[in-house]
Amino acid sequence: ASAAKLPAPTSAPHVVITAGPTREALDPVRYLSNHSSGKMGYALAAEAAAQGARVTLISGPVNLPTPHGVERIDVETAAQMHHEALTLAPHAGLFIGCAAVADYRAASAAEHKIKKTDDSDTLTLTLVKNPDIIADVSALPTDQRPFVVGFAAETQDVARYAEDKLTRKGLDMIVANDVSQQGLGFGSDNNAALLLWRSATGTSQREAPPQPKTQLAALIIRHALSLLPSQRP
Ligand code: CTP
Ligand code: CA
Repeated sequence: ASAAKLPAPTSAPHVVITAGPTREALDPVRYLSNHSSGKMGYALAAEAAAQGARVTLISGPVNLPTPHGVERIDVETAAQMHHEALTLAPHAGLFIGCAAVADYRAASAAEHKIKKTDDSDTLTLTLVKNPDIIADVSALPTDQRPFVVGFAAETQDVARYAEDKLTRKGLDMIVANDVSQQGLGFGSDNNAALLLWRSATGTSQREAPPQPKTQLAALIIRHALSLLPSQRP
């Protein structure tokens, strides 16, 4: 590891967080996106700043004020979020991927508005896969790699799918939630979660009961920071 990029022992690490949805243009007036409100990512950013960390939030389009003391970079597409994340992550101590990144984008966004035609009742769009931001951050060389925390929103088999993502993406920790539960997750102010992380004995886990996203954010930040020193020599 290069000595130059190690933070002073007492200082909190630089925390980089992705949040909100991404928007993938189909034509100049239409896009593909999802219902992510950005609330969880913004709560994490506010909490990390409150715990003394320097925080950079890479944010998709959301309707939220920038948390106090947080530097915010606005992006629209997954490609833009990927670029900002891979620029900042090599200098960060902790990376949290909380964004609901669109998995696909249009193979080519139309230059002009797509016109409705009379010859067909269907329209076929060709989509191509977006880069996996958190997997690419996780694959950075050891001396540039932050501690990497991901999120997994699932509607079934939460623990199994989350552990699969933890392994497949090479993450250090993952926060899983069951988005099929009423009043929790997407757009809501409350969330419950299962925290899974890699430990000496394999995968460890801890359940966080339903609670306000601000409170859950504090728990996640504290937990991630507590795992940091053993991961960063
Ligand atoms: N993620 C990412 N870049 C992508 C897709 C996902 O960084 N292109 C991150 C998310 O921010 C989250 C984690 O990967 O931290 C898991 O996202 P999720 O959508 O649950 O995983 P996918 O691998 O896309 O699997 P699927 O949507 O099929 O469940
Ligand atoms: Ca996805």
